[in-house]
Amino acid sequence: MDLSSKLTRAKIKNLFEAGQAAGPVLVQGWVRTRRDAKALSFVEINDGSSLANLQSVIEEDSPAYAVIKDLTTGAAVSLIGLFGPSLGSGQRFELKCLSAEIIGPAGLDYPLQKKRHTDEYLREIAHLRPRTNKFGALTRLRSQCAWAAHDFFRQRGFYHVHTPIVTGSDCEGAGEAFRVTTLPDGQNAGPEDDFFGRKAWLTVSGQLEAEMLALALDRVYVFGPAFRAENSNTSRHAAEFWMIEPEASFFDLNDDMLLAEDFIKYLVNQALNEGQADLELFDRFVEKGLIARLENLIKSNYVRVTYAEAIKRLAALPQSFERPPTYGADLASDHEKALCEIFGGPVFVYDYPSAIKPFYMRLSDDSKTVAAMDLLVPRVGELIGGSQREERLNVLLDRMSSCGLKTEDYWWYIDSRRWGSVPHSGFGLGFERFLMMLTGVNNIRDVCAFPRTPNNLEF
Ligand code: 4AD
Ligand code: MG
Repeated sequence: MDLSSKLTRAKIKNLFEAGQAAGPVLVQGWVRTRRDAKALSFVEINDGSSLANLQSVIEEDSPAYAVIKDLTTGAAVSLIGLFGPSLGSGQRFELKCLSAEIIGPAGLDYPLQKKRHTDEYLREIAHLRPRTNKFGALTRLRSQCAWAAHDFFRQRGFYHVHTPIVTGSDCEGAGEAFRVTTLPDGQNAGPEDDFFGRKAWLTVSGQLEAEMLALALDRVYVFGPAFRAENSNTSRHAAEFWMIEPEASFFDLNDDMLLAEDFIKYLVNQALNEGQADLELFDRFVEKGLIARLENLIKSNYVRVTYAEAIKRLAALPQSFERPPTYGADLASDHEKALCEIFGGPVFVYDYPSAIKPFYMRLSDDSKTVAAMDLLVPRVGELIGGSQREERLNVLLDRMSSCGLKTEDYWWYIDSRRWGSVPHSGFGLGFERFLMMLTGVNNIRDVCAFPRTPNNLEF
């Protein structure tokens, strides 16, 4: 029976939502398991549209039976059958299979046999782990959150902009940018012989260019990749990650923190509404109580403390840290975690000493601190870094010189403060870190499909 040419493909998610289908349906996907019973065979298939598999029942006297007999976990199949309520227990619906075709076989050496695999093992087969429940769920949640981010900013009048990936300036000034060059190895040539006739890097942040756009379009946001050659082999740093960076004119640090808080709540709320089944998987297997924690994240107001107050609160704790909390030093990750514990949830730390922050942050009236904020969240630590930008030309020039930056390297940035400069602010949210917070997954290597970390670039 060749019905496939006449049938449109049905997605499993839509079938489950509809609960029944009039007439035969065509389903295509990958076999998760097959088991045989007396005069029957059961095949569970997944087509990426939902966490739940579709169980297909094949009776011994059906012509599909001979085909099914050769099916193994991992194979790709096309099934035609009648979809409706299941006769058996354990699942609500099933497909009574009328015909089957193997599209892509998989032998018994398929590395993802039905059992739970460790995160470490799955990292070694990054090309296959999208086929696991966990990665399927992550990928769907990631996609939903990306859509939600676009919705959020569009509703608020922000334009989506694309800033360069190859750049001539280091936004964060931390010297962690990857060089981009076309000069062959071992050739005695200088930057002037290189492709751009000068040194170039992969961007660490789209912020500086986004500022130029915000100073004309009022409100913009970047959603793009960022690259950092931080040699910190930690569970929350990747060499390549995605950042969401809104930038808004006539916007101060307080507006910035309000926007950041609304944004997190919006994304989490969308995920709870649209990705519930996928989140339940993480609640069951990764972090017990995850959904309750996320619901709290929407309800609570995020605490705000100055950096000075944060250091005081940390110093007053009885616990000892790897490095004692001291005024004038960056917060370490155990400090960040402790602050979230003290306040029982996300915490904005703001007004950092200027000496530990980049040149573009707005100097406060005390001349010692800058209008910077970080949002720290439980389990992950720093999720967002943002600031009000220095809009005053003279103050900016002073700051650049005390940071040791050459004004000729940033002439265009300085120009923007010469004409029509306005108070403006923005932040960057690390998308992978957000996904760690959302799913309870505690290693950044397990929230990106193909993580790039020191000494790890398999393909
Ligand atoms: O705090 P950062 O360095 O801020 C900036 O880059 C600003 N220019 C953003 C802005 O104001 N437009 O980075 C922002 C966020 C961090 O809070 C963190 O979530 C994430 O980016 N991030 C990383 N995520 C994964 N791996 C890394 N190596 C990361 N470095 C930063
Ligand atoms: Mg930061």
